[in-house]
Amino acid sequence: MPPAVSLQQVTKVYATSRVEVHALRGVDLDVDAGEMVAITGPSGSGKSTLLHVAGALDLPTSGALTVLGEDLRALSDDRLAAFRRRRLGFVFQFFNLLPTLSACENAALPLLLDGRGRREALARGAALLERVGLGDRLEHRPDELSGGQQQRVALARALAGDPALLLADEPTGNLDSEAGARVLDLLDEARRAQGLTVVLVTHDPGVAARADRVVRLKDGRVDAVTRPERAAAP
Ligand SMILES: Nc1ncnc2c1ncn2[C@@H]1O[C@H](COP(=O)(O)OP(=O)(O)OP(=O)(O)O)[C@@H](O)[C@H]1O
Ligand SMILES: [Mg+2]
Repeated sequence: MPPAVSLQQVTKVYATSRVEVHALRGVDLDVDAGEMVAITGPSGSGKSTLLHVAGALDLPTSGALTVLGEDLRALSDDRLAAFRRRRLGFVFQFFNLLPTLSACENAALPLLLDGRGRREALARGAALLERVGLGDRLEHRPDELSGGQQQRVALARALAGDPALLLADEPTGNLDSEAGARVLDLLDEARRAQGLTVVLVTHDPGVAARADRVVRLKDGRVDAVTRPERAAAP
């Protein structure tokens, strides 16, 4: 099976008025379909940039990039938007929930945008919020939710459209270990049931330990790739 994500010598240079920032300096990375890869590394090492580029939210400056069989550079803006909406789920580092919508509407947003029936979309949103422990917060707006609750709404939204690839920027960063474990259990279930591929950024060694591979970035380059030890089955 071809990899779900393939980056070859991907670079990203942000040109601001004063300086050029080389956020990615030639990253090679293949992620297998169904795999869960954790991206780690110090602040500013390029983790979010890598995720944005893989999620077609930002174009690489150079290099080749194939995601779920699509050469992202070859797609028009419209095709790219449809590809993102139908095939990808994205959890932003700062959630990006829509402030005027309820938690349930936010979670259901990909389905609503895709023209699915409102009732079906909201039922799916509610079911996912239930799964992440927010069944009693469906009607709350984002500013009525704690940071960790907003983060879980963002995760529910990312999973609502049954994506083939989930890109998640510190999806457990604001959660206590119990809520974090619940989120990871939900991801494991989606991986088993739908073959979901997951690339997540994390600073938490406990989260990284649940990944198939850990890719450590440093200064925009892959510094190390490791496979967490698995405890032998009893
Ligand atoms: N839009 C932008 N314009 C200019 N520079 C940027 C932009 N986005 C990111 N950068 C720079 O690119 C580098 C990589 O940023 P990135 O957000 O990918 O880091 P990160 O590894 O996710 O860090 P953190 O752990 O703090 O979230 C940083 O030096 C940052 O200042
Ligand atoms: Mg980041």
